[in-house]
Amino acid sequence: MTVNKDSYYQDHWLEIEEERLERYERMFEWRPEQTAMLDPADLQPGQRVVDFGSGPGFLSLALSDRVGDTGHVYGLDINSEFVRRSTQRAKESNKQDRVTFLQLTQDTLPLEDGSVDRVICKNVLEYVPDIETTLGELKRILKKGGKILAIDSDWGFVVVEPWGADRVRRFFNAASAAFKEPNIGRKLPAALKRAGFQDIEVDIRPFIDRQGEGMAVLSNMTGYIRTFGTLDSAELKAMWEDLEQAVSEGDYMFILPQFSVTAINGR
Ligand SMILES: C[S@@+](CC[C@H](N)C(=O)[O-])C[C@H]1O[C@@H](n2cnc3c(N)ncnc32)[C@H](O)[C@@H]1O
Repeated sequence: MTVNKDSYYQDHWLEIEEERLERYERMFEWRPEQTAMLDPADLQPGQRVVDFGSGPGFLSLALSDRVGDTGHVYGLDINSEFVRRSTQRAKESNKQDRVTFLQLTQDTLPLEDGSVDRVICKNVLEYVPDIETTLGELKRILKKGGKILAIDSDWGFVVVEPWGADRVRRFFNAASAAFKEPNIGRKLPAALKRAGFQDIEVDIRPFIDRQGEGMAVLSNMTGYIRTFGTLDSAELKAMWEDLEQAVSEGDYMFILPQFSVTAINGR
């Protein structure tokens, strides 16, 4: 794939090579301990829910358990292979009547005005080309009084020990073309306000890893940095050697805050 750094944040989701698809399937598998992350959405049986940027679809399937037989989940994503695999996964788990996966090919979402009770979007808004257009569409499809829950990282707000603050900053700056807005977490509340949402609430839930699980995220970032050639390969290699040594000696720590932002479509 030829790399255009100006559109890579979107291109790399439209076309995903097999190895990366499988890595995402492992990274985004829904774990029971993540359930509390959905509490701010106040999900109830019978609700119609949109999972915007549904990826491998594990979250949509977990959401369908929350809304039950009388509710429905729409998983929306721009990647056709994710949509195909998620649809297949829903059939295999006998949930095809509760979840519909749709591929997005334009900014306008394939749902009627005021037709859903909840919008969930987890780790997606950092990639959208125009946050105002996206939030405007999500607001359009929400019923009056409906709620959005956006869960997002902020790549300027990460701890990786033993690298220290300067190397962490260099590393994430080098990967930044993979995102439209790498600092989306801190930007979200104001963006929701501009889009006309009300009762905006912000919480932060840190992912803290001292065993090495978070290295999948760092490895993903390293892939981007190699693609862009934005860090010297000897420097990258030395950083990874330090990381692996710290893991084996028990000195490694990775902290990735997840902003959890809710807002109501009050108008
Ligand atoms: C990091 S993954 C998160 C997947 C899922 N939300 C989860 O947490 O398991 C980001 C997802 O956003 C999707 N995506 C990227 N840009 C998008 C856009 N403009 N509109 C909708 N989905 C998009 C990608 O295809 C990918 O599935």
